[in-house]
Amino acid sequence: MGAEVGVAGVAVPPAAKRRRVVAAKPTAAASGGRRQRPARRPTGVQRLFQACRAVFQGPGTVPAPSEVDLLRAILDRMRPEDVGLSSDMAFFRARDVAQQNPAITHTTIYKSEKFSMVILFLPQNAVIPLHNHPGMTVFSKLLLGSMHIKSYDWADPDPAESGASSPDDQLRLAELVVDDDFTAPCDTSVLYPTAGGNMHRFRAIAPCAILDILGPPYSIEEDRDCTYYTDVPYSEHPVTGTELIGSEQEGRRLAWLKEVDMPRDLKMCPVRYGGPQVSER
Ligand SMILES: [Fe+2]
Repeated sequence: MGAEVGVAGVAVPPAAKRRRVVAAKPTAAASGGRRQRPARRPTGVQRLFQACRAVFQGPGTVPAPSEVDLLRAILDRMRPEDVGLSSDMAFFRARDVAQQNPAITHTTIYKSEKFSMVILFLPQNAVIPLHNHPGMTVFSKLLLGSMHIKSYDWADPDPAESGASSPDDQLRLAELVVDDDFTAPCDTSVLYPTAGGNMHRFRAIAPCAILDILGPPYSIEEDRDCTYYTDVPYSEHPVTGTELIGSEQEGRRLAWLKEVDMPRDLKMCPVRYGGPQVSER
């Protein structure tokens, strides 16, 4: 007779074996007079926290491919309920297509010098403008909703060696990485310091919750402040749009990026995290 399947799909031994397991349990006397509590399974967010703590080694480091795979696998399985959210919440049911630049809220589950775990809440039509993540590796898991992501990497990480001549000192050539719609549930996306779309823009098609893991977090003191950009497609720039695009640019979707101040209409409001807590023990 094989094992039965319990309520949570967990295999349990047949009845005869179960009795032996019960008889083999240590008595209070054998355990030093203390009654043993059954081990509690860590919550989803606790498992994620422990994996992040093992993976992120601090500024100047990038997780190894096997570590990225581990975190990605955990995040791919994360559900809204793991962080106390539900699609039934009024925020995710609200539709207000008329509102322009609605406020974005964010909440911090955990933050240290090595990594942070945050959730971004974007009402419908909200936009997080094009911005970068200097020296950071970022995992983004769309938990609820639908959004458009557009992201870039620098066409050449070293601008001095770039073959493309900038029509303006303030412009730098970038290559489009992602320009697509995403609807939850979907796979986790990962960006790196110089790859994977380090500069991105989010636009909420429907109210969204995005679980972000940032390693390391932004830090003005450690020269990891956030920079904002505007983008002009290479072919639409009044100067370069008329140039013949060189063979090294064939097949690449290029754009000029220009640094800008943080947009004045960007409203980012912190809120208290109300989901399952993480324990540092
Ligand atoms: Fe970002």
